[in-house]
Amino acid sequence: MLPAPSADALAHSQRVTAHLAALIAAAGGWIPFSRFMDAALYAPGLGYYSAGAMKFGAAGDFVTAPELTPLFGRTLARAIAPALLQTGGDVLELGAGSGRLAVDMLGELARLDALPTRYAILELSAELRARQRQTLERESPQLAARVQWLDTLPAQFRGVVLGNEVLDALPVELVHWTDAGPRVRGVSIEDKRFVWQDRSIDDARLRARAEALALAPGYVSEISLAADGLLASLAASLEHGLVLLIDYGFGASEYYHPQRHMGTLRAHYRHHALDDPFHLPGLTDLTAHVDFSAVARAGRAGGLELMGYTSQAAFLLGSELTELLMQTAPDDVAAYLPQTNAVQRLVSPAEMGELFKVIAFVRGELAPLAGFIRGDRRHTL
Ligand SMILES: C[S@@+](CC[C@H](N)C(=O)[O-])C[C@H]1O[C@@H](n2cnc3c(N)ncnc32)[C@H](O)[C@@H]1O
Repeated sequence: MLPAPSADALAHSQRVTAHLAALIAAAGGWIPFSRFMDAALYAPGLGYYSAGAMKFGAAGDFVTAPELTPLFGRTLARAIAPALLQTGGDVLELGAGSGRLAVDMLGELARLDALPTRYAILELSAELRARQRQTLERESPQLAARVQWLDTLPAQFRGVVLGNEVLDALPVELVHWTDAGPRVRGVSIEDKRFVWQDRSIDDARLRARAEALALAPGYVSEISLAADGLLASLAASLEHGLVLLIDYGFGASEYYHPQRHMGTLRAHYRHHALDDPFHLPGLTDLTAHVDFSAVARAGRAGGLELMGYTSQAAFLLGSELTELLMQTAPDDVAAYLPQTNAVQRLVSPAEMGELFKVIAFVRGELAPLAGFIRGDRRHTL
């Protein structure tokens, strides 16, 4: 049984539903799913990320690694500190969620004497920007002044770009492969309900990608043109430094495996994963796994070098996660046990350790990251 929303939450979802219905009507009765997902997540004041939903943590809909333990951000800080010192550049965090990762990273970078002059955050959601500012001012008042919020990517950037679980939150195209070739799946309305409707593919890039995949009739899956676009923009912006992206997903052969014929699109509501992306619009997170082969291709097409690709477990363990955990004395049970439990979740193959991957691109001279030394999987992409 799913937890019932409050009367206010239900009223909000009804406003989001009305907004989506109006978009569909204005477009002549049909919009591609990417447009539906974009509005359901990011329509100003309405979308899941733009309005006041709790989102992260036990009281929200899902838990991300920075919310589990500060050791995640501290380990990432250790991983990127050499690149910051080598480039003399800044940090740019994409989609900073509650601001937790920024707090933990800044704290560790200060301890390592590797603080960047500026920690920039590019965040689409005004509500999350406000939440990030509060978290930083509350938990890291002496470092919060270094943080700046950007509206767009800088034209030229030097340093480290970081994004945890951002790619999975980008709107995806849905494609249905049929006997007559691939068709784009979109949303229409029948009897006041959202329904699927497939159309021919007008977008040449999407058609080329869908035809190249040549999946069996009946297969439905996602293609992320938005991820291609983000990688192209990052590549155009990065003058010298590193792009480090962490997310759940796999290479194309696993992503488009015959057994995954229903795709990876999921709705997350109060720690339940649902197949129905039309469930309570505005109250539910919508996400799709990441096709890291496509991400690698898009980065390389922008002129970036693929530095590494591996599992989250291999990356974190290679970047001193265990050494950081050991700084908490095991006989301090109250502190140690929650940390070991969280670390276990981050690295266990049955939890986040294997499904989550880390991919890194570089431009210019940069020492390799220790996290990729064990178990580099670039050859699988
Ligand atoms: C699943 S949340 C992850 C938040 C946080 N990084 C964490 O790990 O807890 C996705 C985040 O990406 C942001 N986002 C989505 N698209 C974005 C874009 N194109 N540029 C920057 N941020 C984006 C969302 O607003 C949200 O903050």
